[in-house]
Amino acid sequence: MELNVLQQSELKNNVAAVLGTRPEIIKLGPVILALKRQRKRFFIIHTGQHYSMNMDGQFFKDLGLPRPRFSYRETQRRRPGRGHGRQTADMICFVEDILTREKPRSVVVQGDTNTTLAAALVARKLGISVAHVEAGWRSGDWRMPEEHNRVMVDHISDLLFAPTEGARRHLRREGVHGVISVVGNTVVDAVLDNRKRAARRGILRRLGLNSGEDYFLFTVHREENVDNLKTIKRLRRIFERLSRRFHVPMIFVLHPRTRHRLRFFGQLEPLEKIENLQLVEPVGYLDFTRLLSDCRMAFTDSGGVQEEACILQVPCVTLRDSTERPETVRVRANLLAGMNPEAVTRAAERMLRRLTRWHNPFGDERSGQRIVRILTRKRV
Ligand code: UD1
Ligand code: UDP
Repeated sequence: MELNVLQQSELKNNVAAVLGTRPEIIKLGPVILALKRQRKRFFIIHTGQHYSMNMDGQFFKDLGLPRPRFSYRETQRRRPGRGHGRQTADMICFVEDILTREKPRSVVVQGDTNTTLAAALVARKLGISVAHVEAGWRSGDWRMPEEHNRVMVDHISDLLFAPTEGARRHLRREGVHGVISVVGNTVVDAVLDNRKRAARRGILRRLGLNSGEDYFLFTVHREENVDNLKTIKRLRRIFERLSRRFHVPMIFVLHPRTRHRLRFFGQLEPLEKIENLQLVEPVGYLDFTRLLSDCRMAFTDSGGVQEEACILQVPCVTLRDSTERPETVRVRANLLAGMNPEAVTRAAERMLRRLTRWHNPFGDERSGQRIVRILTRKRV
């Protein structure tokens, strides 16, 4: 007879790191490298949620990460554009087969994607310990699929690695079951470990930017922003307004979801015609870090980019009404402007007047190391 849960005595002294999207590769990277450095037994499972070379393979290369032992390549490639349910269900089946066979003692996941939820859910049900990196972020915006995932994963985790005291407070208030440790943000490890290499990249020249030239950098991919014709049209007006007001080159790095939606809503061509605006394909981590370090200002709805801009002392305007990273606003590195063209222009003017020196609220570059120490601690 097959049992639905694994017996504690069957579990092997091994950690499974499960990831599937660009930000998970970047932010679980420091944990994986620390596992390797500390000679711990581990393996990587890739759910295939992201699969294009410039959203996936390039990041393993840039960050020097070992290849996944198990990769699922069918998650989206065959059926793009389907719902959260099917995507998550496919990943659940894939991860369950592997964990049932491999029987690791713990599973470590990061962030708030469907991959994070799928892996955490499978491990919880099998009786494998769940460790969540970046626990406790809350935007309070219940429209966001990421907010649903964060809340669910935090409530089924055994080890909750909170990046800040603020994140710990959210977890305490919600009465989660697991043990909370404030360990800092692994994105600090990623940025600081790669900043020097990034500085040598020739991406600015490739994009036709002169050294020392002011430019604005844009990333937009949130479902609430790009899966909606009204907000997509506002985005166009944001670019038009900023172009007229500031006359600087604007580099818009297009996430694949955004490119698809712009095309679907017939808005790609109008954007291509906006003066000063250049649309570019996603770039690897080193190229992006170079682009972000050198830009005059970042405009984004990305969680990771808000954090990295803050760490790199780059002013940021967030194209959302809320953020789960309020620390960036508190230290005056970030302003929330939503998708309102007038508010975005005003926020940009305000940020340009501010001094670009603030305290980094996300800790030092040793989060990965701290997490591994707690994760692999012998339990009695
Ligand atoms: C996902 C996460 C989001 C995270 C983002 C990071 C969920 C619910 N969302 O959103 O939290 O911020 O990743 O980038 O998990 N596509 C490609 N190539 C790829 C990946 C995606 O072409 O390598 C296209 C596919 O058509 C796909 C679409 O982009 O249907 C969206 O991808 P998906 O992973 O479903 O969501 P993201 O918007 O990337
Ligand atoms: N990023 C990158 N190349 C790009 C755009 C972004 O390397 O072309 C990196 C960026 O440095 C950050 C991460 O991707 O670390 C953010 O991922 P994304 O915005 O897709 O997801 P989010 O952080 O919003 O979940």
